Amino acid sequence: MTNDTKSASQILVLISGSGSNLQSIINACNSGEIRGKVVAVISNVPQVKGLERAAKAKIPNMVVNHQRYSSRSEFDDELCKIINRFNPDLVVLAGFMRILSKDFVKKFEHKMINIHPSLLPAYPGLNTHQRAIDAGDREAGATVHYVTSELDGGPCILRAKVSVHLEDTAADLAKRVLEREHIIFPKVVEWFCDRRITLNNGVVFIDGVSVPKAGLLFEDSSEH
Ligand code: GAR
Repeated sequence: MTNDTKSASQILVLISGSGSNLQSIINACNSGEIRGKVVAVISNVPQVKGLERAAKAKIPNMVVNHQRYSSRSEFDDELCKIINRFNPDLVVLAGFMRILSKDFVKKFEHKMINIHPSLLPAYPGLNTHQRAIDAGDREAGATVHYVTSELDGGPCILRAKVSVHLEDTAADLAKRVLEREHIIFPKVVEWFCDRRITLNNGVVFIDGVSVPKAGLLFEDSSEH
Protein backbone atom coordinates (compact mmCIF):
# COMPACT_ATOMS: atom_id res chain seq x y z
CA MET A 1 0.00 0.00 0.00
CA THR A 2 1.44 3.40 -0.90
CA ASN A 3 1.19 6.39 1.42
CA ASP A 4 -1.40 7.90 -0.92
CA THR A 5 -3.87 5.12 -0.26
CA LYS A 6 -3.49 5.25 3.52
CA SER A 7 -6.21 7.16 5.32
CA ALA A 8 -5.43 10.46 7.04
CA SER A 9 -4.40 10.03 10.66
CA GLN A 10 -6.57 11.42 13.43
CA ILE A 11 -4.50 13.68 15.66
CA LEU A 12 -5.57 14.86 19.09
CA VAL A 13 -3.59 17.69 20.70
CA LEU A 14 -3.28 18.46 24.41
CA ILE A 15 -2.27 22.00 25.38
CA SER A 16 -1.97 24.25 28.42
CA GLY A 17 -1.18 27.63 26.91
CA SER A 18 -0.39 29.66 23.84
CA GLY A 19 -0.58 26.74 21.42
CA SER A 20 2.00 28.02 18.95
CA ASN A 21 3.15 24.43 18.41
CA LEU A 22 -0.48 23.41 17.89
CA GLN A 23 -0.68 26.15 15.25
CA SER A 24 2.37 24.81 13.45
CA ILE A 25 0.71 21.38 13.29
CA ILE A 26 -2.63 22.82 12.10
CA ASN A 27 -0.78 24.76 9.39
CA ALA A 28 1.12 21.67 8.25
CA CYS A 29 -2.16 19.69 8.08
CA ASN A 30 -3.77 22.47 6.05
CA SER A 31 -0.87 22.65 3.62
CA GLY A 32 -0.97 18.87 3.12
CA GLU A 33 2.52 18.39 4.57
CA ILE A 34 0.99 16.29 7.33
CA ARG A 35 -1.33 13.62 6.03
CA GLY A 36 -3.57 13.98 9.03
CA LYS A 37 -6.28 15.96 10.68
CA VAL A 38 -6.43 17.54 14.12
CA VAL A 39 -9.71 16.10 15.38
CA ALA A 40 -9.74 17.75 18.81
CA VAL A 41 -7.80 20.04 21.11
CA ILE A 42 -8.03 19.68 24.87
CA SER A 43 -6.60 22.15 27.36
CA ASN A 44 -6.26 21.60 31.09
CA VAL A 45 -6.26 25.39 31.53
CA PRO A 46 -9.31 27.51 30.64
CA GLN A 47 -9.22 30.51 28.32
CA VAL A 48 -5.79 29.99 26.83
CA LYS A 49 -4.80 31.23 23.39
CA GLY A 50 -4.44 27.69 22.07
CA LEU A 51 -8.19 27.19 22.47
CA GLU A 52 -8.82 30.30 20.37
CA ARG A 53 -6.49 28.95 17.71
CA ALA A 54 -8.43 25.66 17.64
CA ALA A 55 -11.78 27.46 17.45
CA LYS A 56 -10.50 29.63 14.61
CA ALA A 57 -9.48 26.50 12.73
CA LYS A 58 -12.95 25.02 13.46
CA ILE A 59 -11.45 22.18 15.48
CA PRO A 60 -13.55 20.80 18.37
CA ASN A 61 -11.94 22.07 21.54
CA MET A 62 -12.61 21.69 25.22
CA VAL A 63 -11.25 22.30 28.68
CA VAL A 64 -10.66 19.59 31.26
CA ASN A 65 -9.64 21.76 34.16
CA HIS A 66 -7.38 19.76 36.47
CA GLN A 67 -8.30 22.06 39.36
CA ARG A 68 -11.79 20.61 39.35
CA TYR A 69 -10.59 17.11 40.14
CA SER A 70 -9.66 15.94 43.59
CA SER A 71 -6.89 13.61 42.45
CA ARG A 72 -4.52 13.10 39.54
CA SER A 73 -6.13 9.77 38.70
CA GLU A 74 -9.62 11.29 38.56
CA PHE A 75 -8.38 13.95 36.15
CA ASP A 76 -6.50 11.41 34.07
CA ASP A 77 -9.55 9.09 33.89
CA GLU A 78 -11.74 11.90 32.62
CA LEU A 79 -9.11 13.03 30.12
CA CYS A 80 -8.71 9.47 28.90
CA LYS A 81 -12.47 9.04 28.47
CA ILE A 82 -12.69 12.19 26.35
CA ILE A 83 -9.64 11.33 24.25
CA ASN A 84 -11.06 7.87 23.53
CA ARG A 85 -14.24 9.39 22.15
CA PHE A 86 -12.12 10.69 19.27
CA ASN A 87 -10.23 7.43 18.83
CA PRO A 88 -7.04 9.23 17.75
CA ASP A 89 -4.10 7.58 16.00
CA LEU A 90 -1.75 10.05 17.64
CA VAL A 91 -1.88 12.10 20.84
CA VAL A 92 0.36 15.17 20.73
CA LEU A 93 1.43 17.02 23.88
CA ALA A 94 2.04 20.55 22.64
CA GLY A 95 2.99 22.57 25.68
CA PHE A 96 0.84 20.38 27.92
CA MET A 97 2.17 21.12 31.39
CA ARG A 98 0.60 18.34 33.46
CA ILE A 99 2.38 15.23 34.62
CA LEU A 100 0.39 12.21 33.47
CA SER A 101 0.01 9.07 35.56
CA LYS A 102 1.67 5.78 34.62
CA ASP A 103 -1.72 4.21 33.87
CA PHE A 104 -2.63 7.03 31.52
CA VAL A 105 0.66 6.88 29.67
CA LYS A 106 0.36 3.11 29.30
CA LYS A 107 -2.99 3.52 27.54
CA PHE A 108 -1.42 5.65 24.82
CA GLU A 109 1.93 3.91 24.63
CA HIS A 110 3.56 4.14 21.19
CA LYS A 111 1.14 6.81 20.06
CA MET A 112 1.81 9.79 22.29
CA ILE A 113 4.59 12.32 21.62
CA ASN A 114 5.79 15.45 23.39
CA ILE A 115 8.06 18.38 22.63
CA HIS A 116 10.41 19.57 25.33
CA PRO A 117 12.47 22.79 25.15
CA SER A 118 15.89 21.30 25.87
CA LEU A 119 18.36 18.89 24.37
CA LEU A 120 17.21 15.87 26.34
CA PRO A 121 18.33 14.19 28.52
CA ALA A 122 19.55 17.61 29.73
CA TYR A 123 17.07 19.65 31.75
CA PRO A 124 13.85 17.71 32.06
CA GLY A 125 11.13 19.67 33.89
CA LEU A 126 10.78 23.44 34.05
CA ASN A 127 12.93 26.56 33.43
CA THR A 128 15.04 24.79 30.82
CA HIS A 129 16.39 27.94 29.18
CA GLN A 130 17.52 29.64 32.37
CA ARG A 131 19.15 26.40 33.50
CA ALA A 132 21.07 26.16 30.20
CA ILE A 133 22.22 29.79 30.52
CA ASP A 134 23.21 29.34 34.18
CA ALA A 135 25.24 26.27 33.28
CA GLY A 136 27.14 28.26 30.64
CA ASP A 137 25.95 25.95 27.84
CA ARG A 138 26.91 27.03 24.33
CA GLU A 139 24.05 25.10 22.77
CA ALA A 140 20.40 24.66 23.63
CA GLY A 141 17.44 23.32 21.70
CA ALA A 142 14.32 21.21 21.71
CA THR A 143 13.56 17.51 21.49
CA VAL A 144 10.53 15.59 20.26
CA HIS A 145 10.14 12.29 22.05
CA TYR A 146 7.73 9.47 22.76
CA VAL A 147 6.00 9.84 26.11
CA THR A 148 6.74 7.32 28.82
CA SER A 149 5.97 7.51 32.52
CA GLU A 150 9.39 9.09 33.14
CA LEU A 151 9.06 12.89 33.03
CA ASP A 152 10.50 14.15 29.71
CA GLY A 153 12.33 10.85 29.59
CA GLY A 154 10.86 8.85 26.70
CA PRO A 155 12.77 7.73 23.61
CA CYS A 156 13.96 10.71 21.55
CA ILE A 157 12.94 11.09 17.90
CA LEU A 158 14.20 14.42 16.57
CA ARG A 159 15.97 17.41 18.05
CA ALA A 160 17.14 20.80 16.90
CA LYS A 161 19.98 22.87 18.30
CA VAL A 162 20.42 26.60 18.59
CA SER A 163 23.47 28.50 19.80
CA VAL A 164 23.31 30.25 23.15
CA HIS A 165 24.51 33.84 22.76
CA LEU A 166 26.44 35.53 25.56
CA GLU A 167 23.82 38.23 26.02
CA ASP A 168 20.84 35.84 25.87
CA THR A 169 18.10 36.08 28.46
CA ALA A 170 15.90 33.03 29.01
CA ALA A 171 13.20 34.79 26.97
CA ASP A 172 15.59 35.39 24.04
CA LEU A 173 16.61 31.76 24.05
CA ALA A 174 13.03 30.52 24.41
CA LYS A 175 12.04 32.54 21.35
CA ARG A 176 14.84 31.11 19.19
CA VAL A 177 14.19 27.56 20.39
CA LEU A 178 10.45 27.93 19.75
CA GLU A 179 11.17 28.79 16.10
CA ARG A 180 12.93 25.45 15.79
CA GLU A 181 10.12 23.68 17.66
CA HIS A 182 7.72 24.86 14.97
CA ILE A 183 9.83 23.04 12.38
CA ILE A 184 10.67 19.77 14.12
CA PHE A 185 7.30 19.04 15.76
CA PRO A 186 5.22 19.09 12.55
CA LYS A 187 8.02 17.11 10.87
CA VAL A 188 7.70 14.29 13.42
CA VAL A 189 3.90 14.37 13.19
CA GLU A 190 4.28 14.11 9.41
CA TRP A 191 6.54 11.04 9.75
CA PHE A 192 4.15 9.48 12.24
CA CYS A 193 1.14 10.00 9.98
CA ASP A 194 3.09 8.52 7.06
CA ARG A 195 3.73 5.49 9.30
CA ARG A 196 7.47 6.02 9.01
CA ILE A 197 8.22 5.98 12.76
CA THR A 198 8.00 3.01 15.07
CA LEU A 199 9.09 2.26 18.59
CA ASN A 200 10.41 -1.17 19.35
CA ASN A 201 11.76 -2.15 22.78
CA GLY A 202 12.53 1.49 23.58
CA VAL A 203 14.35 2.07 20.28
CA VAL A 204 12.97 4.51 17.71
CA PHE A 205 13.07 3.48 14.05
CA ILE A 206 12.55 5.76 11.08
CA ASP A 207 11.99 3.97 7.79
CA GLY A 208 13.20 0.83 9.53
CA VAL A 209 16.53 2.37 10.57
CA SER A 210 17.24 2.87 14.29
CA VAL A 211 17.89 6.43 15.40
CA PRO A 212 20.56 7.41 17.96
CA LYS A 213 19.50 7.52 21.61
CA ALA A 214 19.50 11.35 21.58
CA GLY A 215 17.25 11.37 18.48
CA LEU A 216 18.03 12.49 14.94
CA LEU A 217 19.53 15.94 14.69
CA PHE A 218 17.60 18.39 12.54
CA GLU A 219 20.12 20.22 10.37
CA ASP A 220 19.16 23.69 9.25
CA SER A 221 21.51 26.02 7.44
CA SER A 222 19.58 29.10 8.60
CA GLU A 223 20.53 28.49 12.26
CA HIS A 224 22.38 31.38 13.83
C1 GAR B 1 7.02 25.05 24.23
O1 GAR B 1 8.26 25.70 24.34
C2 GAR B 1 7.18 23.58 24.63
O2 GAR B 1 8.40 23.03 24.25
C3 GAR B 1 7.07 23.67 26.12
O3 GAR B 1 6.06 24.61 26.36
C4 GAR B 1 6.04 25.56 25.28
C5 GAR B 1 4.63 25.64 24.75
O4 GAR B 1 4.50 26.64 23.80
N1 GAR B 1 6.76 22.39 26.70
C6 GAR B 1 7.25 21.95 27.83
O5 GAR B 1 7.98 22.61 28.55
C7 GAR B 1 6.83 20.55 28.22
N2 GAR B 1 7.73 19.98 29.18
P1 GAR B 1 3.19 26.70 22.89
O6 GAR B 1 1.99 26.60 23.83
O7 GAR B 1 3.27 28.05 22.24
O8 GAR B 1 3.25 25.58 21.91
